[in-house]
Amino acid sequence: MKLLKAKVNSISRVTSNVYRIGISSPLLARKSLPGQFLHIKLEDKRVLLRRPFSIHRVDRTVVYILFKRRGVATDILSNLKKGASLDVLGPLGNGFSYFGDTAWRKSIKENIMLVAGGIGVAPLVFLAQKINALRGTDYKPPILTFLGARAKSEVLCEGDFKRLGSKVRVATDDGSMGFKGTATDLLKNQLRTKICQLKAYVYACGPQDMLRSLSAVLKKFPGLVCEASFEQFMGCGVGVCYGCVIESKAGYKKVCKDGPVFNLRDIY
Ligand SMILES: Cc1cc2nc3c(=O)[nH]c(=O)nc-3n(C[C@H](O)[C@H](O)[C@H](O)COP(=O)(O)OP(=O)(O)OC[C@H]3O[C@@H](n4cnc5c(N)ncnc54)[C@H](O)[C@@H]3O)c2cc1C
Ligand code: FES
Repeated sequence: MKLLKAKVNSISRVTSNVYRIGISSPLLARKSLPGQFLHIKLEDKRVLLRRPFSIHRVDRTVVYILFKRRGVATDILSNLKKGASLDVLGPLGNGFSYFGDTAWRKSIKENIMLVAGGIGVAPLVFLAQKINALRGTDYKPPILTFLGARAKSEVLCEGDFKRLGSKVRVATDDGSMGFKGTATDLLKNQLRTKICQLKAYVYACGPQDMLRSLSAVLKKFPGLVCEASFEQFMGCGVGVCYGCVIESKAGYKKVCKDGPVFNLRDIY
């Protein structure tokens, strides 16, 4: 974990209220793992606390965040220009387990499923990047991504996942694209097919309601392991203030330090 000043390398508007910022930092690019986050401080009196953002992707020496404009901090971020300086603490937290872990390697021989609700796609693109980088080695796990959004105009990163070798299924609340319903409903349908016989790894990120309903679905499929990234309001971001706790089956956990990625079965 480092505290550093880094320059905005690029900024682009992805949808009406979602933006992507590239941050130049060879160190962050080298050290970051999927599921970890950056804690960003803004030079603006209206924003006292740092704000957490998942590492969305890494290209050579640039790390990206993908964010939704929600309030003051994200509004300021969306108006930054190339060359602006950012005060960044990171990479922070425990990310998704993948590859290095032999248990993971064994269990994902068959399938990897990514389940994203809205802006929850952000960390899953980086994970798909890392998994895709394994292609050409001795095994090539199939990836199936379920993208949930309110409407077609809000579907994020479909092309990124496809370029990274994943099949993509889209679900929209209003039915304007793909399946009408949520990403979790879509996963549930998929699990009714032959996939339910297999062991698989499910990685998820989205609103807590989505993670709760995902956990209800997974109860019927004990062969599935699910790691999920949780969002919570944060203070320090480094385990000191207890501002980010969530209740797990083993007591309270700090999202910033123990997470943000947890085994979903440890939480619900
Ligand atoms: C580990 C982690 C990773 C995150 N990664 C991303 C990411 O990749 N992209 C992204 O867009 N956001 C992400 N977030 C959420 C992001 O930190 C908040 O959206 C941001 O801090 C809002 O700041 P703001 O000043 O613009 O909004 P505020 O003025 O603080 O809030 C505006 C509105 O948004 C709601 N809000 C703010 N923060 C959250 C939150 N954490 N959960 C639910 N509602 C919230 C508030 O209730 C309020 O209604 C992440 C959060 C965590 C904890
Ligand atoms: S934000 Fe301070 S302990 Fe997690």
